[in-house]
Amino acid sequence: MKVCLQTYGCQMNKLDTALVEVALTNNGYMLTDSVKDADVVIINTCSVREHAEQRVRSHLGHLKHIKQHKADLVVGVIGCMAQRLGAELLDDGVVDIVCGPAQIPQIPDLIAKTLREKQKALAITDQIRKPTPPDQADALEEFETIYGPEEKTLPSQAYIRAMRGCDKFCSYCIVPYVRGPETSRSPQAIIAQAEKLADTGTKQITLLGQRINAYEYKAGDKTYCLADLLEMLSQIDGIEWLKFVTSYPSEKYYDRILRAMADLPKVCPYLHIPAQSGSDKILKAMNRGYTATQYLDLLAKARQIVPGITLAGDFIVGFPCETDDDFQETVALVKEAQYKSCFVFKYSPRPGTTADKRLEDTVPLEIKKQRNYKLLEVQEKISDRLSKKFLGQTVKVLVEGPSKKPHLNLAEGKNYPQLVARTATDYIVVFNGPTSLAGQFTTVKITKTSPLTLFAKLE
Ligand code: 5AD
Ligand code: SF4
Repeated sequence: MKVCLQTYGCQMNKLDTALVEVALTNNGYMLTDSVKDADVVIINTCSVREHAEQRVRSHLGHLKHIKQHKADLVVGVIGCMAQRLGAELLDDGVVDIVCGPAQIPQIPDLIAKTLREKQKALAITDQIRKPTPPDQADALEEFETIYGPEEKTLPSQAYIRAMRGCDKFCSYCIVPYVRGPETSRSPQAIIAQAEKLADTGTKQITLLGQRINAYEYKAGDKTYCLADLLEMLSQIDGIEWLKFVTSYPSEKYYDRILRAMADLPKVCPYLHIPAQSGSDKILKAMNRGYTATQYLDLLAKARQIVPGITLAGDFIVGFPCETDDDFQETVALVKEAQYKSCFVFKYSPRPGTTADKRLEDTVPLEIKKQRNYKLLEVQEKISDRLSKKFLGQTVKVLVEGPSKKPHLNLAEGKNYPQLVARTATDYIVVFNGPTSLAGQFTTVKITKTSPLTLFAKLE
């Protein structure tokens, strides 16, 4: 039996897919990249914006067409969209299995049952905001540990989930409704996983959580925060770089995390810390719980405690009632923040969120597009200026592997293929070098820059 897995969305989803892949291979399935070859197609889905859901729907349309000639094909939808839409996804005939993020440990059984009994299967959480029942929590924990060295998406790099869910309820966001309550995994489980990964050559670990800085685990009278976790992970031989995403701009544990970054050489000086808007009115309507000034103060503190830190952000443009003046405040914040890069998204109303229930999507699409473009333009100038500072510098990078779409061909190493690597501060560096460097640390000299990419030659 051959299974084809396809993933939409964030790192959390990519990690879930990796786990499902191991579970399926452990159960005797073979993996294939080709839908045509597959007996089973599983789509891991994202609900964060409508566009992400539309892409899945059009893909399902394509699968429906294939199913006309291949009636036995089993199609499964897993992840956030499965949890959000549930049985509705089974309606149009193409989907056989619907499985939410909390039920993914059941995937091998659901597939086997569907193949055997030729019946549709639905496994989602009925009341998503209720605490996860202990048996389900145990199943998820056990599922997490099947992650092994062969699942690394990039050589020598691995992701470990530190937290599940989110309790923040930003008014626009679907995550709390599809990923459930915020829970932190035990430090023991995370450390055990990291040790196993280190034993098989992992050099960089990235901890994942929707609000990773809120990591908090109580054991007896000790409460572990992210700084404690970073300290424990730092002691593992073989692990050289530690990263974590995504940070929420709040004071809780912030000083301790920044101190850990400053004091522990393995903790990379990089924060992805979304502001979402620079207007206090919009931040309030988004239920973000901070003002633009408070946010900028946090960035200033980060720069003071961790010299050389790089910052990245996320913004939503065209949130309901965002005026031109509000948008100008966002532009001003971006100028002040001096991010290395930022992502900009057009507001997309998500059913069931408070913004969707209480606020009309007032900003026309054309204006959202203009603001999106403008903000990226402002950021590009900043990125370009910050990148140029690297010219002539020698930097340490961890090599990911050959570049998928080659950039300019550097004369210095034209006998070699083009490789992609990253700095500790998350800059992308491209240079020509032997593919044997994939998964290795090396030093390169920056010879050319663009806003988002540094070009280099091997030292
Ligand atoms: N519309 C547009 N962007 C959104 N994001 C989250 N929810 C929405 C939405 N409803 C963005 C935020 C978040 C990123 C992952 O996606 O900027 O940081
Ligand atoms: Fe969504 Fe806010 Fe939670 Fe991030 S912190 S996942 S934006 S609710």
